[in-house]
Amino acid sequence: MTTAVPHPKRLFIRTWGCQMNVYDSARMADVLAPLGYAPAEAPEGADMVILNTCHIREKASEKLFSELGRLRAAKQEKAALGERMVLAVAGCVAQAEGAEITARAPWVDIVLGPQTYHRLPEMVARASRAAGAVIETDFPVEAKFDHLPDAAAPQGVTAFLTVQEGCDKFCSFCVVPYTRGAEFSRPVAAVLAEARRLVAGGAREITLLGQNVNAYHGDAPDGPTWGLGRLLRALAEIPGLARLRYTTSHPRDMDDDLIAAHADLPSLMPYLHLPVQSGSDRVLAAMNRGHTVEDFLGIVDRLRTARPDLALSSDFIVGHPGESAADFDATMRLIERVGFASAFSFKYSPRPGTPAAGAPLQVAEAEKDARLAALQALLRDQQAAFNASRAGMTIPVLITGAGRHPGQVAGRSPWLQPVHADGPLDLVGQVVPVEVLAGHPNSLAGKLVPGAQATRHHQPEEEPAPA
Ligand code: SAH
Ligand code: SF4
Ligand code: F3S
Repeated sequence: MTTAVPHPKRLFIRTWGCQMNVYDSARMADVLAPLGYAPAEAPEGADMVILNTCHIREKASEKLFSELGRLRAAKQEKAALGERMVLAVAGCVAQAEGAEITARAPWVDIVLGPQTYHRLPEMVARASRAAGAVIETDFPVEAKFDHLPDAAAPQGVTAFLTVQEGCDKFCSFCVVPYTRGAEFSRPVAAVLAEARRLVAGGAREITLLGQNVNAYHGDAPDGPTWGLGRLLRALAEIPGLARLRYTTSHPRDMDDDLIAAHADLPSLMPYLHLPVQSGSDRVLAAMNRGHTVEDFLGIVDRLRTARPDLALSSDFIVGHPGESAADFDATMRLIERVGFASAFSFKYSPRPGTPAAGAPLQVAEAEKDARLAALQALLRDQQAAFNASRAGMTIPVLITGAGRHPGQVAGRSPWLQPVHADGPLDLVGQVVPVEVLAGHPNSLAGKLVPGAQATRHHQPEEEPAPA
């Protein structure tokens, strides 16, 4: 809902971290829209700047403090004109280091944790009156979703939908259980209603989000809670919704019904991000992951049986405390055995307050560098090989917008690869057959199959039902 306001104010949001932060940034913009805040392209001159931060690795929080240094100058320039820039720090660094932020950067007006975004309007009002910073880092997670506005700004052809937040797994290295709090699932009805709204706003592909999205267990209309498989089956019924994805999953929560959903639902895309972190049982135990290499390989087999064209992506950490050269080799062997279409890999970064940070046998920095380089070279080769293997295939591509060059459209393959082809912009929002001409390291080049029928999806005619 956009209400006309006499003096539009300009809002700039910078987002770091995971897709849940991307989703949260969009919701913060939604909450502030009725107050007259419209998106700005740059922080300079904006009336409000929100930095939505990530705490997952050391560098992530360092980026915040260098950005805050730059914004101090922008804020002073605005003050020289007799105007005010409200500066807010949101996200996981805000949650973990609220007090440190206001001590190191006293020009910050608002510090707000991920569960308090629905209270932003009130905080902005308080910040305009108060001299010091307003700090809100409580954990009332249900309240956040209950109070965020229904009428979100349309996200476009591909959209994110948060269904689950928080984590109870406490992996040795990870800050998420501390910054996002305990696991929580949104009720089924609320998820379905938001999905229908997104589709009515033009979304053709929805990615369900959660720190542990497959631990989803939302209250259902018919009594018992639903798992993610059941939720996906219900979402697949929504007319006009061509594609479904979900991320990020934990191997421990990959249950039979969810695996079966990959066999049963053509709209559930054949691509899964399933972080394994290490290929050594010793390290997996030290990480408190709660699964073995064998467990992971078993899940991969069952998924590939359910959906033979399924491609996998994963996360890896090298140099967790205690990781020996032999442990690292085991990770390389696991990668060779599974074959990944893409992956994220990181050097272990000690996070204050997590069990691994204080553990003995920290791995030397140079060793971590060497292991990461070897691992990334292997993963890069696998990604290039996977992309190259698509050449010659005709694949369904969801057209998402204009390509880089005039006359070109851009889209997404079922395996989340960016695809470019010559074609008209009125194809945006359609799934069209594309013949892949070349698989490059990071994208596919293709051509529309002439005369072929696009998969058209009609919009639902009536207003979506209320939750
Ligand atoms: N919930 C997801 C991952 C969330 S964090 C899961 O359970 O897998 C995203 C990724 O960041 C993790 O998978 C891990 O590979 C990486 N990561 C988290 N903490 C890290 C740390 N302290 N050092 C390096 N990488 C880390
Ligand atoms: Fe972090 Fe582990 Fe939870 Fe993933 S499962 S968010 S890595 S604690
Ligand atoms: Fe970062 Fe928080 Fe996401 S630490 S990865 S923004 S949950």
